[in-house]
Amino acid sequence: MNAPLKTCVLVSGNGSNLQALIDARRSGGLNFEINHVISNVAKARGLARAERSGIPTSVLDHRAFTSRDDFDRALALLICTGKPDLVVLAGFMRIIGPEVLEPLRGRMINLHPSLLPLYRGVDTYRRAIEAGDEKHGASMHFVTEELDGGPVISQVVIPIQPGDEADSLAARLSPMEHRLVVATVEFFSRHRVECMDGSVFVDGSKQEQPLQLQDNDRLT
Ligand code: GAR
Repeated sequence: MNAPLKTCVLVSGNGSNLQALIDARRSGGLNFEINHVISNVAKARGLARAERSGIPTSVLDHRAFTSRDDFDRALALLICTGKPDLVVLAGFMRIIGPEVLEPLRGRMINLHPSLLPLYRGVDTYRRAIEAGDEKHGASMHFVTEELDGGPVISQVVIPIQPGDEADSLAARLSPMEHRLVVATVEFFSRHRVECMDGSVFVDGSKQEQPLQLQDNDRLT
């Protein structure tokens, strides 16, 4: 077996997806490690979750920097100190600028609560309901210059039910996001997943569609 995938997780708030990764790792059999958790918010619950599990944490408060570029440069340095194989944005609510992207291109992935390319940005649940969509979901995609616009690696789909409101839909999607994030990181630990020419390649083969989360928590 290869060396465990060294993963750095970035959070801004609750960190329930980070917790899902911690729990999955603890339950064993998965070939990844969480080596570093970084937050731009000192009070983020995600930091406490990491600390409780003995994972090194860092806080980089964006408000302490005079420019976005300065913050981005410091963030890139902080991430790269741990030499991660993969950087997971799990509820990290900052736009990733070129200073961060450049050294980490192809190694940084983001969890987004929509079936991308639908509904980039915020308020995805409400927008999907108001559009009359029959389904919603979450995506993991490579981070690129374009906000929520990088190639989509994996998705999970759930139905929108009659009477759903943004909160009920979000509550139903959340546990599925947890499963998606774990399955995707696990997938990276077993496969060569690359971002090239605006597409996702798995072990050298171009993916025509995002991988889908199956009932057995595998991606196919
Ligand atoms: C998740 O629902 C994730 O999809 C969303 O933030 C939440 C974080 O939850 N991310 C975005 O909206 C990014 N655009 P968590 O802090 O409990 O893991």
